[in-house]
Amino acid sequence: MKGRLYQELILIVDFGTQYSQLVARRIREQHVYCEIVSPGRVLEEAKTKKPQGIILSGGVGSVFDDKATIPEELFNLGIPILAICFGYQVMVHVLGGKLVAKDIKQPKKATLTIKDSSDLFFNIKESAFLLSQDEVKEIPKGFEVIASAETVPNVAIRDPQRKLYGLQFSLEELHTSLGKSVLQNFLFKVCKLQGLWDMDQFINEVVKQIKEKVGTDKVICGLSGGVDSAVTALLVHKAIGDQLTCIFVDHGFMRQGEAEDVVTTYRERFNMNLVHVDASKRFVKLLEGITEPEQKRKIIGNEFIRVFEEEAKKIGDAKFLAQGTVYPDVIESGSGSSSVIKSHHNVGGLPEDLQFELIEPLRDLFKVEVRKVGEKLGMPAEMVWRHPFPGPGLAIRIIGEVTKPKLDLLRKADAIYIDEIKKHGLYNDIWQAFCVLTNTRTVGVLDDERTYAYVLGLRAVNSSDGMTANWYRFPYEVLDKISNRIMKELPEINRVVYDISPKPPSTIEWE
Ligand code: XMP
Repeated sequence: MKGRLYQELILIVDFGTQYSQLVARRIREQHVYCEIVSPGRVLEEAKTKKPQGIILSGGVGSVFDDKATIPEELFNLGIPILAICFGYQVMVHVLGGKLVAKDIKQPKKATLTIKDSSDLFFNIKESAFLLSQDEVKEIPKGFEVIASAETVPNVAIRDPQRKLYGLQFSLEELHTSLGKSVLQNFLFKVCKLQGLWDMDQFINEVVKQIKEKVGTDKVICGLSGGVDSAVTALLVHKAIGDQLTCIFVDHGFMRQGEAEDVVTTYRERFNMNLVHVDASKRFVKLLEGITEPEQKRKIIGNEFIRVFEEEAKKIGDAKFLAQGTVYPDVIESGSGSSSVIKSHHNVGGLPEDLQFELIEPLRDLFKVEVRKVGEKLGMPAEMVWRHPFPGPGLAIRIIGEVTKPKLDLLRKADAIYIDEIKKHGLYNDIWQAFCVLTNTRTVGVLDDERTYAYVLGLRAVNSSDGMTANWYRFPYEVLDKISNRIMKELPEINRVVYDISPKPPSTIEWE
C-alpha cells in the first residue's frame, strides 16, 4: 500500500540472522516504527525513505570470514548510525579501522567503564555486560572511545561529527536494562525521536489508505480462523463496510468447534458479509496419497486460492483480495537476508495466475502488534489471544497421509490437550500448543488385551514471534493428566510423547 504509516523511521540492517527481528521488536516497543533491510538495499532505502536513524544489527559471523559489507557512502548521509556487535565490526572494517579475531565462541562477561555519558550512555552507570567476539584494535579516523572494559579498550566508540556509534555488545544485552537504556538513548537522545508509533494512529492511517485504494470496488477476504486474517477482515470492514465479503474456505483442517466459531462471530457479532464454503471433502481428496510436507502445503495453498476464485466469481466483480500477511511472513519468505525455511502459503505459494490485486494491511506488523489492533477493533479476547495456527491447519500435523478418520482423531486429542492446559491456567503462558498425530503405531495393553495404536506427539513452545522457540516446561502432573485423559478417551492412541526440541534446529510445526 502506498503512503506512510509512520512519521518516524529507523532502518535495521539484517546481516542474515533473525536477531534483526529482535532488535526491531525492541524498537517498536519504544513506539518507534522500524523496518528491516538487507545490506545490499540499505543505501537506496536510506536515500528514499530518509530514516532518522540506522542500526547495523548483529550477526553470528565475523568480517574475517564473511563477505557482508555496506557502502561507505551510508556513513556520510548525516543519518545517525548505531552499529552493534557484528554491525560494529562491519562499520570499523568499512571505515578503515583494524580488527583482531578472537577465538571466543561464547560472549564473555566484562565490566563496562563509561567515559562519556552525554548521549549513548546518558544516565547509565558502570555495569557488568556481555562482550561479543572479535575486538576492535584500531578505531577509524574521527572516532573516540566512550566506554571500555578491563582488557578491552574500544568497547564503545563514537564519531561525534557524523553521529556514528559502535558497540561491542553481545546481542543478548538487548534483553537487559543496560541494552534497553542504550537503545532508548540512541532513539531519543541521538536521533531525537518522539516515539509516535502507536496502534490507534496505525488503524486510522490504514483505514484511510484502504478507502482510497478501494474506492467503490469490491474486496474479498479469506478468513482462516487465525488472528491475522480476522484482524485483516476487521480493518478492511472498518474502512469499506459492505463492499467487503469474507470467504471462509473451510478446508476441513480446523480445530474442534473453530469453523462454527468463525461463522457466528463474523456474521452475528460483526455483521459482515460472510460466505462459508465447506470444501473439506475436496481438500481431503486432493491430499490422497500425499505424504511430503512441502507438497501438502503447496496443494493446500493453491487449492485455497482456487476455491476463492470460484467463490469470488459467484460474488461478482471483486477487484481486491485482502490477506493477513504479517511482517515475519514477509521476512521469512525471503525479502530480508534470512533464508526460506518453509513456504508459508500466504506469501510464497500464491498461484501465478492470481486474478486479484492484493491488500495486505498487516504486512508491516509483528504478531503482538496485530493482536493489539485486534483488541482495539473489538475482537473477543479468546480470539485475539488464541494460539497461532498454520494456514494448512491440521493437515501438517498429521504425519503421512491425511484422512478423515485421522483428522477427527487429531481434533479430539487436540481438544483434550487444550482443555487441560486451560483448566490448569497455563494457556496464556504458552505461545503455541498442539498435538501431532504420527504415522507410527506401537504395541500397548488394555484390559489384558494387546493393542496396536497410534503415537501422539504433544508440542508446546514459548516464542516471541515464532522465529525461534523453546519447549514449554510443563509440571509433570499436568503432562500426566493430559496423557492419561487422551489415552483413556481415545483408544486409537496408546502412547503419548512430549516434544522437547527447540527451534532451531527443529521448527515449531512438525511439517
Ligand atoms: P515453524 O513450523 O516454521 O512455524 O517453526 C513458525 C510459526 O508459523 C506458523 N506456521 C504457519 N503459519 N501459514 C501460516 O499462516 C503456514 O503455512 C504456516 N506454517 C507454520 C506455525 O504454526 C508457528 O506459529
